[in-house]
Amino acid sequence: MTQRIAVLSGRGGAGKSLLTCGIGEALAGLGKTVLLVDGSQGLRSLELYMGLTEGILYTCPDLAAGKCRAADVLVEDENHPGLWLLPAAQNLPSDKDLKENYGKALEIIQNGGEDVPSFDFILTDCGGSPESQLTLAALSERPVLVVLPDPAGLRAADKLRKLTAKEPEMIINRFDSRDLAKHLLPSPGEFQEMLPLPVLGIFEENDGLRRAVLTGGDVVREMPEFANTAKRLLGQTVPLPLLPGLLEDASVLAAQTPEISGKRESFWSRVFGRGK
Ligand SMILES: Nc1ncnc2c1ncn2[C@@H]1O[C@H](COP(=O)(O)OP(=O)(O)O)[C@@H](O)[C@H]1O
Ligand SMILES: [Mg+2]
Repeated sequence: MTQRIAVLSGRGGAGKSLLTCGIGEALAGLGKTVLLVDGSQGLRSLELYMGLTEGILYTCPDLAAGKCRAADVLVEDENHPGLWLLPAAQNLPSDKDLKENYGKALEIIQNGGEDVPSFDFILTDCGGSPESQLTLAALSERPVLVVLPDPAGLRAADKLRKLTAKEPEMIINRFDSRDLAKHLLPSPGEFQEMLPLPVLGIFEENDGLRRAVLTGGDVVREMPEFANTAKRLLGQTVPLPLLPGLLEDASVLAAQTPEISGKRESFWSRVFGRGK
């Protein structure tokens, strides 16, 4: 039985494509057969994160329109056995026939055929406007919100979670423990009070990861949280980072840092009308 997961954020630059790629690679590393769907019609990027710059002959709308077979459009990642990509069109407006293109293409792929793998997971990297992201998310049964830990990121996530058909889980991305130590940032626990969603993963801001993206390096190797998030998706219990280990480190750091929590606390609670 295939599990369809939609990765969305409402905002560009939250890390959806990078996280989709890394979690997909990690799931494949755990022996799963995984399809990553690039949902950024008109401005695709997932193949760049996956390092698949060659081999794209057809795209999702070609499959939906019957211009090719599923086996022609899917690109296999030879460096990660079990991982495949459904590329987005690069030359269509971002919201043109989105529901039809992706709905039909996924139906064809899931109906299978001789040369089409049977996927354990289909992860859609939902791109474009919040409306486009929600259109794509409606094709999956498990929405996952990527949340940036800043006021605008929290607002975007809070808005989107009310619009998804099913309550999403969340991944907090680009969490900076130095900001946490300085009390500039709510802790993951406080975060969850403001945005009460199950947490699937917490990714720190990470220079190694950023460099791996710039050089086509292995993103999964840079952060164990990719494999841990993949395991949580499989239903395994894996402790979240920053809870409580880093919080202890953070309190040590915080003790050495001038107290400025009052500013942050009043700011975040003004923005969200609650918080600590
Ligand atoms: N945890 C992180 N640490 C460092 N850089 C990150 C992290 N998450 C994302 N990035 C960088 O942020 C940028 C935007 O990420 P991307 O996945 O393209 O966002 P989106 O798909 O949501 O628009 C990329 O350059 C990516 O490498
Ligand atoms: Mg993207």
